[in-house]
This record gives sequence, structure tokens and C-alpha cells, in this order.
Amino acid sequence: MKPLLKNDVNQWGVISRIFHWFMALLVIGQLYIGFTMTALAASPAKYDLYKLHKSFGLIVLSLVGLRLLWRSLFPTPALPSQDILTRLSAPVLYLMMLIMPLSGIIMTLSAGYPIPLFNWLTIPAFIEKNFVTSKGAALIHNLCGTSFVALIGLHMGAACYHQWGRKNNLLRRMIKGQ
Ligand code: HEM
Repeated sequence: MKPLLKNDVNQWGVISRIFHWFMALLVIGQLYIGFTMTALAASPAKYDLYKLHKSFGLIVLSLVGLRLLWRSLFPTPALPSQDILTRLSAPVLYLMMLIMPLSGIIMTLSAGYPIPLFNWLTIPAFIEKNFVTSKGAALIHNLCGTSFVALIGLHMGAACYHQWGRKNNLLRRMIKGQ
């Protein structure tokens, strides 16, 4: 089969595969930076990591929007099984990719802080300062961050099980298309 730009019912297109692996890298990096920066004592390095974390978070949010749009335009290859866990896997991961940046943005803005996008521009704290909203969003961000680590672990485990246990080439088709 020829590699395709778009998906079809048999294979993932190049654009979907780039989205998948690039966003996997970004999200895992975001989790790593998130846990590292919160554990650091106040210092310029901590401040720089917060800035990086917020900037990459905005990139994740923009990309997940584009990715969902792209995904909605074409068919996707069939799932390896119809059981509930397999069917829920992609929607739950997409939900997490939306909840994490959105809760981060709400937490930051409602605490009265602006959001930097690297050194290019800054989104000012344009909403009213609200301690309860900020704390609620922080709680969601922290709980979902920890759950996200577990979900990514399960997702990677399931992909390996399908590839080498069930030998159905599930992982290969996300690398090579089919
Ligand atoms: C995919 C996107 C994101 C992921 C995976 C992510 C993940 C995390 C994680 C794992 C933590 C550490 C939580 C803990 O210590 O329990 C964290 C903290 C934090 N994140 Fe994010 N985050 C994302 C996006 C964002 C965005 C867009 C913003 C703001 C614009 C943001 C702002 C923050 C802040 C301010 C903290 C520190 C919270 C505190 O000090 O308690 N995050 N993030």
C-alpha cells in the first residue's frame, strides 16, 4: 500500500502519525516538566520551567484542536477489538489533552498571572482574580496530571501487548501507516 497523507479505513495517514508522535513527545515532556518544576525550590530555573510549561501547554491545546479537526475529516482504521476499554482509550486520551491545558490556563489566569508564549507574546490575566476557581482548577490539573501518567502507561502497555502478544501490528501501523 502507498503511504497516504490522509487516513483511510486500512491505514493511518502521514499527518495523523506525525500528530500522534509529536504530541506524545510534547505531553510526556509536559508531564515531566510539570512534576519537576513544582518540586523545585523557588529559583530562576523554577521560573524558567514554569514559563516553558505554560508555553508548551498552549501549543498542546492548539495542536489537539487541529488534530481533532483533522481526525473528524477522514475515516480511521478499525480498532483491534470492540471491548469497552479499547473503545474508550482514544476519547479518554483526547479528553485529557484538553483538560490539562484548559485547567492550567484557568488556574493561572484566575490566580491573576499572565500566560507567556515563550518570549513571543504574553496573554494578560484578563479574567477577574478568583481564589476558589484557581484552587479548583489546580486540583483538577494535579489529579488529572497523575491520572494521565497512569493512562499513558496503560496505553503504551496495550500497544505493546497488541503488537507482540496478539501480533496484530497495531503499533506498527501507527509507525509505518499499516
Ligand atoms: C498537556 C498539557 C499539560 C500537561 C500534561 C500538564 C501537566 C502538569 C503537571 C503534571 C503538573 C504538576 C502537578 C503536580 O505537581 O501535582 C503541572 C503543574 C502546573 N501546570 Fe501544567 N500541564 C499542562 C498544561 C498547562 C498549561 C497550558 C498551563 C498554564 C498556561 C499550566 C500551568 C501549570 C502550573 C501553574 C502548574 C503548577 C501548579 C502548582 O504550582 O500547584 N499547565 N502541570
